[in-house]
Amino acid sequence: EELEMSLEAIEKGGFDHFMLKEIYEQPKVLEDAVRGRMSAEDGWIKLGGVSEYINKINSAKRFIITACGTSYHAGLLGEYLIEELSRVPVEVEYASEFRYRNPIISENDIVIAISQSGETADTLAAIEIAKERQALIYGICNVIGSSIARATHAGSYTHAGPEIGVASTKAFSTQVVILTLLALQIAEHKGTITTSYLRQVLFELKNIPNKIKETLKLDAQIQEIAEVFKDATNFLYLGRGVNYPVALEGALKLKEISYIHAEGYPAAEMKHGPIALIDEQMPVVVLATNDSAHEKIVSNIMEVKARSGKVIAIVNEGDTEIAALADYTIAIPQTEEILSPLLTVVPLQLLSYHIALMRGTNVDQPRNLAKSVTVE
Ligand code: G6P
Repeated sequence: EELEMSLEAIEKGGFDHFMLKEIYEQPKVLEDAVRGRMSAEDGWIKLGGVSEYINKINSAKRFIITACGTSYHAGLLGEYLIEELSRVPVEVEYASEFRYRNPIISENDIVIAISQSGETADTLAAIEIAKERQALIYGICNVIGSSIARATHAGSYTHAGPEIGVASTKAFSTQVVILTLLALQIAEHKGTITTSYLRQVLFELKNIPNKIKETLKLDAQIQEIAEVFKDATNFLYLGRGVNYPVALEGALKLKEISYIHAEGYPAAEMKHGPIALIDEQMPVVVLATNDSAHEKIVSNIMEVKARSGKVIAIVNEGDTEIAALADYTIAIPQTEEILSPLLTVVPLQLLSYHIALMRGTNVDQPRNLAKSVTVE
C-alpha cells in the first residue's frame, strides 16, 4: 500500500491533487495542442485530421456541435468562434437531447462531436444518428483510440494528456484551442477574415501559454478570496458574449467539486430572474475583461452592488473602473477577445478548487460523479 501511495504521489507530480496538477499543466498542453498545426510567423493553420475532408468542411452550410458536460461548454464557444469568424451557422446541442428528438440533419451538415474521454454514451449515440443521416462527423477527443474517435470520419486529438480529475480543466482548454484553429481555418478558406487578422490571432494564440502562466501566479490571491466565500450556499456566475459559456463552466466547476449550488447566466438575463436572489450573502462572479461588452458588464456589476451582492470580478490588468466597484478583482492579462476564455476560465478553476479543498470534499473524485459516463 505504501508503494501504491508513493506511485500516486509521483503521478501527481508534487501537487496535492490531480485537478491542481491539470490546471497547472494548461500552458504546456496548449502548446502541445497547436504543435505542428499552425505557424504564427508564416500565418498558416493545418489540422491534419481535417485535410481529407477540407472541401466538404469549407463548403458546409451548417455545423452542429454535440457534447455533454464541460465539453458542451467548449461547444458553445465553438458556436461563437465559427459563426463570428466564418459566418457559417452553428447549432449546439446536448447529445442527450439531440439523440432523442429526431433532429433535422442531412449529408450537407457537419456534426462536431466533442468528448474528453471519447466514451460518453449519449455523445456516441448522437454520432450514430448523425451518421445514419449521412452527415460528416468530425471528432474532438482527448483519449486516443477511444470509441468516439473511432466512430468519426475526421477529427483532431486535443493532446491534453491523461486527465484524472473528474472535473475537466485542461481538456476544456485544449478543446477550445482546436475549435479556434478550426474556425480560423474555415474563415481563411472562406475569406471572411483578413490575412493580417489571422496572423494577429495566431501570434496571440502562441502567447496564450505565457499569459496562462501569468494568470496562475494569482493562485494565492484566489485562495484568499476562496477563504471569504467558502461557506456560501449559492454562487452566481455572469458573463457576456464569448465569456457567457465560461460563466456556465465556472458554475459547473464549483458545483461538481464543492457541492455549492451555482448558476451561470448571460449577464443581461440577470434581471429576468436571478436578480431576485441577490442579497448581501450572494457572491457573484463576473467575467469583466475588456471585451466589446465591457460597459454593459459595468452596469451589471452596479446592479449587483445596488442590492448589496458581493462581486468577484475577473478583469484585465489596469482596469480601475471595475476595481472601484467590485469587492474583489482578479486581474489577468489582456488578449484577443475571441481567445479570452482561455484565460478567464483559469481563475474560475482555481476558485472552485480552493473552495472545495477548504470544505473538505474529495476534489479529484467528487461524490456521485464519474469521469466518463458510459451508460445513459
Ligand atoms: C462527465 C465528467 C465531466 C465531462 C462529461 C463529458 O460528466 O464528469 O467532466 O465534462 O462527462 O465527458 P466527455 O468525456 O464526453 O468530455
